[in-house]
Amino acid sequence: MTSPSTRPPSRPLPKTFSVKSFGCQMNAYDGARMAELLEEQGLVAVETDEADLVLLNTCHIREKAAEKVYSDIGRLTKTAQGKGRAKPMIAVAGCVAQAEGAEIPRRAPAVDLVVGPQAYHRLPDLIAEAASGKKALDTDMPAASKFDALPKRRRQGPGAFLTVQEGCDKFCTYCVVPYTRGAEISRPWGQVVDEAKALVDAGAREITLLGQNVNAWTHEGRGLHDLIEELARLPRLARIRYTTSHPNDMADGLIAAHRDIDKLMPFLHLPVQAGSDRILKAMNRSHDVASYLKLIDRVRAVRPDIAISGDFIVGFPGETDAEFEETLSAVRAIGHAQAFSFKYSPRPGTPAATMGDAVPAAVMDERLQRLQALIAEQQYAFNRATLGKTCAVLIERDGKLPGQRLGKSPWLQSVLIDGGAIGDLVDVTITQAGPNSLQGEAKVLAAA
Ligand code: 5AD
Ligand code: SF4
Repeated sequence: MTSPSTRPPSRPLPKTFSVKSFGCQMNAYDGARMAELLEEQGLVAVETDEADLVLLNTCHIREKAAEKVYSDIGRLTKTAQGKGRAKPMIAVAGCVAQAEGAEIPRRAPAVDLVVGPQAYHRLPDLIAEAASGKKALDTDMPAASKFDALPKRRRQGPGAFLTVQEGCDKFCTYCVVPYTRGAEISRPWGQVVDEAKALVDAGAREITLLGQNVNAWTHEGRGLHDLIEELARLPRLARIRYTTSHPNDMADGLIAAHRDIDKLMPFLHLPVQAGSDRILKAMNRSHDVASYLKLIDRVRAVRPDIAISGDFIVGFPGETDAEFEETLSAVRAIGHAQAFSFKYSPRPGTPAATMGDAVPAAVMDERLQRLQALIAEQQYAFNRATLGKTCAVLIERDGKLPGQRLGKSPWLQSVLIDGGAIGDLVDVTITQAGPNSLQGEAKVLAAA
């Protein structure tokens, strides 16, 4: 890296910026932290079309997500030309940056800077380097933690993300995450607790603990449930959630936490991916369908109302019609409050990408449609089952209509109510249930 002070800048340092995050919640967290870092450097957040620096925080999980970055880069360049202004400095961050590295500016010369998910604390140096006219690149996975180098958490909305674990050692055969995010690491107990306190001081009332395998979090013999128990002691923190979990890391203590800790919300995102044991084996999932169902039973035994969410892949190489039917049966047996489903997308460098035996696109389309219809049915049924119930809703933001607010139920459903202030936790009686959201009446407010 060239020292910025010895080389006259070939363009001014950016004064304004915009971060666009794609993909998972961990990317949203990284995006927020990059924004905090840039603000600390004196840059001002503005709309993307106005920004001197645009940071695309990318996702590599499926081909469509990964390709999106290239169309975005083209659009940014064109919009700047159309407005007669200089092309913004374009930075690519996130998992595409990690996976493709120097290939990105080769393919898209408008890109000035590439930074991986473990190196973004170095953004200020990289920006200076890019301003000096060089292509700046950092996709190291340094041993020293980026978290030590990032500024303190800033003003928050009611719901905040907190990454506690990164990376994955599971090596499911379809997945790029072990390559883009590296080996499983857990942030130390004290660091996580301090950040949670800072988030609460900054206004957070709900914290979602994040990790690619968040329930594998461990530090000095303690597990995720110990951490949840500790955070539940923070008086102003009302709610705790965690995502994403792996069935094999679902410890007894974590299951018990769903019974014992009131602040832990009754929601579990626990992907099973497929309903055929042969496919699960080919995916290297190291669990079968029966053990997954047993696990769900155990969780429901301690927390009967828990909302179950999941992820599914249809059309994994070699998946037969009968095997896909097994996925539908598994979904029927599980009963979801919500779930995500995707067509299999071969990813470079993963074992499944070279398995052959691809499922034809039309077959995948049809399977996805059938699966999504079933999941939508279950979600609607779950929503209808809350009709007439009263539950606590955390108000997160304004709704579309004047005076309307949008909040979340304990089961992560969106609930529309009239009135209330953002950040309030109000008791709401559910009066209408749609396929994707609920409407309710706030008790306290109605009485006032
Ligand atoms: N193709 C399709 N879906 C994938 N996922 C991960 N890798 C792939 C892939 N190659 C899905 C899994 C995972 C979710 C985040 O994305 O279901 O749980
Ligand atoms: Fe996408 Fe996975 Fe990267 Fe998240 S960690 S952005 S889901 S590739």
